[in-house]
Amino acid sequence: MQKIESIQAMQQWARSVQRDGKRIALVPTMGFLHEGHLSLIRLAHEQADRVVVSLFVNPKQFGPNEDYDRYPRDYARDQQLLEAEQVDALFCPSAEEMYTPGHSVYVEEDAVSRVLEGESRPGHFRGVLTVVAKLFLAVQPDLAVFGRKDAQQLYLIRKMARELNFPIAIVAGPTVREPDGLALSSRNAYLAGTAREQAATLHRALKEALRLYREGERNAYRLRKVMMDMVLAASEAEMDYIEIVDTATFTPVTTVQGPALALLAVRFGSTRLIDNMELTAEDAP
Ligand code: PAJ
Repeated sequence: MQKIESIQAMQQWARSVQRDGKRIALVPTMGFLHEGHLSLIRLAHEQADRVVVSLFVNPKQFGPNEDYDRYPRDYARDQQLLEAEQVDALFCPSAEEMYTPGHSVYVEEDAVSRVLEGESRPGHFRGVLTVVAKLFLAVQPDLAVFGRKDAQQLYLIRKMARELNFPIAIVAGPTVREPDGLALSSRNAYLAGTAREQAATLHRALKEALRLYREGERNAYRLRKVMMDMVLAASEAEMDYIEIVDTATFTPVTTVQGPALALLAVRFGSTRLIDNMELTAEDAP
């Protein structure tokens, strides 16, 4: 595995791979890798000849009171996992390499980035879209793989790629879960004791909404109420939002008519967890 720290060296590597007619897939991450990340890397291998993983804890997507400084990091372990997955190149620029002094150009989406995660975390998606655009231009992949776990992020990256003409296919991977249903997340490392057990209620509530949907419930208020009651039965849970959105527009619906996503964000102490589920007639692949 090649370890590449500069943007220029990354672009050179990409050009030489492309000259050989090979397709490049990029899997962007912030490290502290888990099976969710590894599943995206395996998906990338299926669809391209060379796989690049980026590891960059992006300061621009954390709010001033968020966990940038304490975000979990274990570079040595990550490197071993990536070697084992036969990743071709690890792109791991420093913050100074990505953001030169005086950096003031950003990618800003003006509608969907303001709601839900964007409302709870002002500036978050501006940071995400800016870094993903920079990673796209550094790695120049043919395709990039993202997890469905971060549904609003995935939606916005697809929108950015389309509206800014990035010639990059965006591929989505399914959410990988613990045996009790908790979606894997680097932030799960913060969960201690009873909060860890209670965190599985997010997925239980989403599954209950799906069950009711499949029984014919189409009233979004009633579906949200059932999820809310289940989540709040966990004594340490604090609700941030529960919403049902139209998959195509990411706007809340009152009646579920077409394809929809149930989304929730819940705090356990200072740890904030998100999860989502597609409301479909059949089991999603
Ligand atoms: P990070 O949280 O490290 O996630 C990297 C990728 O892994 C994202 O596409 C995310 O959706 C996916 N992922 C996380 N948990 C997953 C799970 N349980 N199952 C499947 N995929 C999962 O998301 C980011 O980093 C950053 O915002 C980034 C896109 C790298 C930009 O900085």
